[in-house]
Amino acid sequence: MKSLAAIVLAAGKSTRMKSKKSKLLHEVGGQSVISRVCMSLSKCSLSEIIVVCSHQMEPVMSEVRNVFSSAVKIDQGEAKGTGHAVLKGLEGLKGKNADVMVIAGDIPLITHETLNELHKVHIQSGSKASFITMMCENPFGYGRVIRHDNRVIRITEESELAEDEKDLKECNSGIYIFSGEFLNAQINTLNSGNSKNEFYLTDLIEKASEFSDVATISADESEVTGVNTRAHLAGAEKFLNDKVVSVLMDMGVGFVAPSEVVIHDSVVIGMDTFIHKDVVLTGKTFIGEDVVIEQGCIITDSVIERGAQIKPYSVIEESYIGENSVIGPFARLRPGNKIGEKCKIGNFVEMKKTCFGAGVKAGHLTYLGDADVGDHTNIGAGTITCNYDGKNKFKTVIGHNVFVGSDSQFIAPVEIGDDVYIGTGTTVIKDVDEGSLVINPKKQKVITPWTPPGKRGA
Ligand code: UD1
Ligand code: CA
Repeated sequence: MKSLAAIVLAAGKSTRMKSKKSKLLHEVGGQSVISRVCMSLSKCSLSEIIVVCSHQMEPVMSEVRNVFSSAVKIDQGEAKGTGHAVLKGLEGLKGKNADVMVIAGDIPLITHETLNELHKVHIQSGSKASFITMMCENPFGYGRVIRHDNRVIRITEESELAEDEKDLKECNSGIYIFSGEFLNAQINTLNSGNSKNEFYLTDLIEKASEFSDVATISADESEVTGVNTRAHLAGAEKFLNDKVVSVLMDMGVGFVAPSEVVIHDSVVIGMDTFIHKDVVLTGKTFIGEDVVIEQGCIITDSVIERGAQIKPYSVIEESYIGENSVIGPFARLRPGNKIGEKCKIGNFVEMKKTCFGAGVKAGHLTYLGDADVGDHTNIGAGTITCNYDGKNKFKTVIGHNVFVGSDSQFIAPVEIGDDVYIGTGTTVIKDVDEGSLVINPKKQKVITPWTPPGKRGA
């Protein structure tokens, strides 16, 4: 079998997106448009990948190279149309006898299944050219597929359509496979004698139909539409999100309001987990079975183990939550926390780079940064680790079964042994041995009688 190379067309200026950024760098489901196209291409056994670019070449190529480290960059220079882009792209494939897939870089939801199906049909049909079509209710702007007796005879661009062709709903998606020999022999025959003065790649379809039947497969419009505008981008985001949620429901994940959550396709969720309204789950997040995530929680790049409960409006980043722990409401876990099983982290608790053993409780109004806390320790309300001296960060280590009284501070670096009891309002400055009581004695002063300034006479 002939090998398959790909040319990705990525030189457009994205004028319709009205953005300083190329449309290929905008994100759908947390990943750039171009990187989504590359991810699907990476599952197509390609021998080579050529990227034709010009506008914002470096950031576009860096997204491509995260997926294909060996991708070849071709600078199109002045963009003279898709035919010209492919002509340039072929320079990167000199001497290679491969079939060539051509795909626009702005089709983020294209799946590898559809690309592989096109490849299969291309091989089976022996066509010089094969491409993916879509049926569009509103075909305006797309090239239309013109057939005679069902046989494709050409693609006509919107600007060149005859009056009676304008209602045709079968459109060109902009994804093709060409026989390499045919493409190399015919690409130079393209001309720019059309209303846009561009070299249209689509003119090659008429040529190919003179040699053999042109094979097509048809895909859903939502999968193969290009994202040219903000509205297209939002449409792709919604389509992908709905698909992710529907797959999760098929796998036994429950939702109160399936259309009112945001879940990226990089997130894994176990059976019988239940997700409330306005929850946002992104990045490399893994959520086990029987977890409950209540309203308004935002969880990124984290692991939430089985049976945990995340109460409303908690924000969790790059953290690990052990089995059956209860977090929130209104908890904020910044990156780097590891929470053991059966812990309780309550409202207005902020944590960063902090490890909890099993059964630790920090119920209210607390800041814990760079701390290690042993099993079954209780952190009282208003506890603060003073971990930063304005220049460096220091660790607080607290042992097992420690009782930290409310409104205490730890001046790090400091270490507290097991079974220590810290009295309310203690500023812990020095290390404390296990089994001790630590307090900062304060005297209570009472002045009676006392008249508040507002009630005193002139
Ligand atoms: C193109 C097709 C049209 C199809 C539509 C599907 C042509 C002539 N028309 O139209 O039949 O229905 O896609 O979305 O091909 N690009 C370059 N260099 C250029 C011009 C374009 O790299 O000189 C890239 C663009 O960045 C884009 C892709 O090629 O990723 C398609 O170009 P675009 O101008 O968006 O073509 P359409 O008008 O959408
Ligand atoms: Ca386009």
